Amino acid sequence: MSAMLPSGASLYDRVQRVIPPIEWPTFLDDIEAILVLKRQRNAVVLAHNYQTPEIFHCVADIVGDSLALARKAMAVEAEVIVLAGVHFMAETAKLLNPEKTVLIPDLKAGCSLADSITAADVRLLRQRYPGVPVVTYVNTSVEVKAESDICCTSGNAKAVVESLGVSQVIMLPDEFLAQNIAAQTDVEIIAWKGHCEVHERFTPADIRQLREDHPGVTVLAHPECPPEVVAEADFSGSTAAMSDYVGSQKPPRVVLMTECSMSDNVAVEHPDVEFIRPCNLCPHMKRITLANIRSALEQNRHEVRIEPEIAGRARLAVERMLDV
Ligand code: 13P
Ligand code: SF4
Repeated sequence: MSAMLPSGASLYDRVQRVIPPIEWPTFLDDIEAILVLKRQRNAVVLAHNYQTPEIFHCVADIVGDSLALARKAMAVEAEVIVLAGVHFMAETAKLLNPEKTVLIPDLKAGCSLADSITAADVRLLRQRYPGVPVVTYVNTSVEVKAESDICCTSGNAKAVVESLGVSQVIMLPDEFLAQNIAAQTDVEIIAWKGHCEVHERFTPADIRQLREDHPGVTVLAHPECPPEVVAEADFSGSTAAMSDYVGSQKPPRVVLMTECSMSDNVAVEHPDVEFIRPCNLCPHMKRITLANIRSALEQNRHEVRIEPEIAGRARLAVERMLDV
């Protein structure tokens, strides 16, 4: 390994609060190989906030929520992008970087929201609600984006809906995100019945129990949680907004009603905050490992390819979002 690269020991200093010493040696060989491969292949790793700490803190070059990953993907200069996240995120990176090689380490890293709706469903919705614009959450396939007027993420959904200057929009596929945004705007929102299999499992009773067991705890909930969960939380926002909240408000005790790795990744930056850890795992995010990031770079797999006609239409919907 080149002397310019961080050593395993210095990386461990960063993650020692969230990775037990006994586990660290099992990661080291892959981490060092990935650091070398990234240089050899002129590659960067983009990692979502739900990636495990050994990926997020030790091999990722760019981290963030879906919106940040999309924005930062546009500025990537490397030739190869490895997307440590789920398939729709890799598709978005490819849409914004059509000339670059975009790799997803496991093709089965899907999303229950993306699976909840097809392009044909969107065409039917347009027939049922003629003239009503379609706002599509980025957690969808590229084919669904191609049928949409504009995309949104959990970080900009309200701004996107209100940017259209209309009284009614179709917002798909996450019913709870649509309901949570509807509570913040005068725009009427027609929702689809998709749900995130991770966030739909949180309940208001969970929050009440947490407040009883951990007095003074601050509760942050992702807007993919049911509205009655968001209503009982102290704050709701995208994964980046939750992380920023912890950084700016420094609550002494906090619980993040979201995917499990979020707390680990945010805790690394905030040793003075106590993180209470009920959480739900996203099985799709957890398909990405150091081992398959390494083989993605070694074997150039799995390359994301999008049919040009679909890519053109889907890119427009993503670019319109990025202009808001
Ligand atoms: P964020 O855009 O808030 O990071 O959310 C992405 C996601 O998949 C949440 O489940
Ligand atoms: Fe999809 Fe939910 Fe997993 Fe996010 S956490 S990738 S919305 S299944």
